[in-house]
Amino acid sequence: MSTYQNLIYFLKETQKTWLITGTAGFIGSNLLEHLLKLNQNVIGLDNFATGHQHNLGEVQSLVTPEQWSLFTFIEGDIRNQDDCAKACEGVDYVLHQAALGSVPRSINDPITTNAANIAGFLNMLVAARDASVKSFTYAASSSTYGDHPALPKVEENIGKPLSPYAVTKYVNELYADVFATTYGFKTIGLRYFNVFGKRQDPNGAYAAVIPKWTAAMVSGEDVFINGDGETSRDFCFIENAVQANLLAATADEAAKNEVYNVAVGDRTTLNILFNSLKEALAENGVVNEKQPVYRDFRPGDVRHSQADISKAASKLGYAPEYRIAEGIAKAMPWYLDRKS
Ligand SMILES: NC(=O)c1ccc[n+]([C@@H]2O[C@H](COP(=O)([O-])OP(=O)(O)OC[C@H]3O[C@@H](n4cnc5c(N)ncnc54)[C@H](O)[C@@H]3O)[C@@H](O)[C@H]2O)c1
Repeated sequence: MSTYQNLIYFLKETQKTWLITGTAGFIGSNLLEHLLKLNQNVIGLDNFATGHQHNLGEVQSLVTPEQWSLFTFIEGDIRNQDDCAKACEGVDYVLHQAALGSVPRSINDPITTNAANIAGFLNMLVAARDASVKSFTYAASSSTYGDHPALPKVEENIGKPLSPYAVTKYVNELYADVFATTYGFKTIGLRYFNVFGKRQDPNGAYAAVIPKWTAAMVSGEDVFINGDGETSRDFCFIENAVQANLLAATADEAAKNEVYNVAVGDRTTLNILFNSLKEALAENGVVNEKQPVYRDFRPGDVRHSQADISKAASKLGYAPEYRIAEGIAKAMPWYLDRKS
């Protein structure tokens, strides 16, 4: 049995209390769904900045009424210390996901991104430390690799951040490390690499590439590729990210005060992604013959990204179960459902 299967078995038998910040968002609502299905108590904190009530509604429709009754939602803001303190009361494990994502958003409005991602992060660290939670796992980011050219990315070698967003995610890691040395409060950072799957918002100027392109292809709109399409990413299906969070939250002390890559270890160019989405849609009866429209490279974007996941594998027992094609196949019915 894998480490993760063992953990699932253990959690089914043992009820704990979890706090998920950003629970109305993409990753947060998927964590919520998994934890409720394991009969865990969950507290959610979100201010709906980019998350949606309908994400919570969808989770409610996927669990039993008994499981849903294990969920307590706090509409609140991580920029507010009292909200953070209230959310941490009686919590065993914190999964801190709330932040303003998106490189372009941070370039357009660095102040708001900074407030949520740095001040909000610090509020959560203080609140979790003061509540003596068992563990604190937070969403870090592959953007921290910045301009470091090496591939695959190993946790120890980072470059200079290329955007305000990347600065905020790096500062999270610095604060996390200082909290370990100063207060003995050890955390785990998960450097996500382009996570995708159901409930990732396809709408708005800052939508991620997979839901955005899929929505455009379904409605026959143009798909824009920033640059020559040879930009590459290590796309990580949401189930892998959920696995990493549950393993990190329950990891032993030796695995703490560390950051881990959360990805698959593959590299897919945007041109290949375009064709994969087109094929997956065709398999679901949606045929689109339109070619992509190429435009300028986007400022702040890293050119290539691919993770070395051996540290997460050896120290957390992380073993991603889905590669990109399997993830796209699983997510496609959801994307199509949302567009109909
Ligand atoms: N999705 C990815 O590929 C990816 C990659 C790297 C890092 N991350 C990080 O993972 C986390 C989750 O990302 P996501 O893709 O689910 O994004 P998301 O936008 O769907 O979810 C973020 C959630 O945080 C909430 N939030 C934002 N500011 C808040 C505040 N001040 N107070 C309370 N709640 C607030 C939003 O309303 C939203 O529900 C973020 O920290 C993000 O930076 C995501």
